[in-house]
Amino acid sequence: MELAYSVNPGIEDIVAEEVVAEMGGTTSYHMMSGYVFHKPANFNEYAIMRLRSINRAYILLWRGKVGEKLDDLIRIRDRLVHEMEGLEEYITPSTSFAVSAERVGTHEFTSMDIARIIGDVVIRYIERFYGKRPPVDLRKPHVVVFAFQRFDELLVGVSLTGTRSMHRRGYRVYDHPAALKPTLAYAMLRLSGTRDHDVIIDPMCGGGTIPIEAALIHEDAEIKGLDKNPHHIMGARLNALAAGVRNRVFFGVWDARRLHELSVEFDHIISNPPYGIRYGSPSTVRRLYKDFLASASKCLSSRGRITIITTEYNFINKVIDELGLIRVHERTVHHGSLYPHIIVLEKKK
Ligand SMILES: C[S@@+](CC[C@H](N)C(=O)[O-])C[C@H]1O[C@@H](n2cnc3c(N)ncnc32)[C@H](O)[C@@H]1O
Repeated sequence: MELAYSVNPGIEDIVAEEVVAEMGGTTSYHMMSGYVFHKPANFNEYAIMRLRSINRAYILLWRGKVGEKLDDLIRIRDRLVHEMEGLEEYITPSTSFAVSAERVGTHEFTSMDIARIIGDVVIRYIERFYGKRPPVDLRKPHVVVFAFQRFDELLVGVSLTGTRSMHRRGYRVYDHPAALKPTLAYAMLRLSGTRDHDVIIDPMCGGGTIPIEAALIHEDAEIKGLDKNPHHIMGARLNALAAGVRNRVFFGVWDARRLHELSVEFDHIISNPPYGIRYGSPSTVRRLYKDFLASASKCLSSRGRITIITTEYNFINKVIDELGLIRVHERTVHHGSLYPHIIVLEKKK
């Protein structure tokens, strides 16, 4: 059995590590592709539901080359009707289904064409198998068949996560206007190397995504979330309550530029500070970054790390040396319509 996970581009390696830790087996992926393939040693649907880094999971039924012309897609239809082995385990004449199709690259056909053709394949395959057609239900299907054309490759699978992306956590009752995707918050915790018993803080926590994700993976860590805006702190408390971790995270109003005044040593300072566009002029943002990093470097434990996601990575790389910090990791990720970097910093030894 092969599984495919759709993931936030830029964190494929972190997803691969998580799925192998949960279910064993082997993975393959290309960084920034948005997909990870997994042959698990022990497949377990409950383990899939526990994953914190994926968007969606699929059981892969077919994977192969399809050209960019509409005729290429039409031609593959007859082949697929004979090659969707295993589909009968998920769809029967009394199971409704819908096809969700996506497309990346230049093609003569649209994702609607893909959905129509794969829908036809599903109906013909099931009719051949059971002698009766399965019903289509676009609103509330029992099973979602997924088709993804990426350049000249087509993937067809059955969704294990329904129509909902798992990055939409149920706990977001307060929606911060610039909230971070929880899957990226999880990736930042992994890149920072957080462990149980560590002291972890997000000093610009907004709706609390990073501290909440930290509390969901570390039962015994000391976790704090601060923000200068009391409204966001109220929202973060509500989110933490909904996530069931309210008693394990301290939230308070504070200025990230005065972090050192708290007289606490932090093992991980992990944050998603404001990006330029929303915060006013670039110089205001840069001043904030410099003052925050200067303060953060004063209260970092000897093995501590500062992990930041930002579009202001050039500025950070320019000032870290004078602040006594070194960069130990940097990568590009996709977030919304932007390509921020995650940068991990340590104190110079
Ligand atoms: C991009 S948002 C963080 C969103 C958060 N990661 C989430 O998922 O909800 C940046 C946050 O930094 C806060 N902020 C800006 N300047 C600050 C400062 N000097 N001290 C503390 N918080 C600050 C803003 O109020 C805002 O909530």
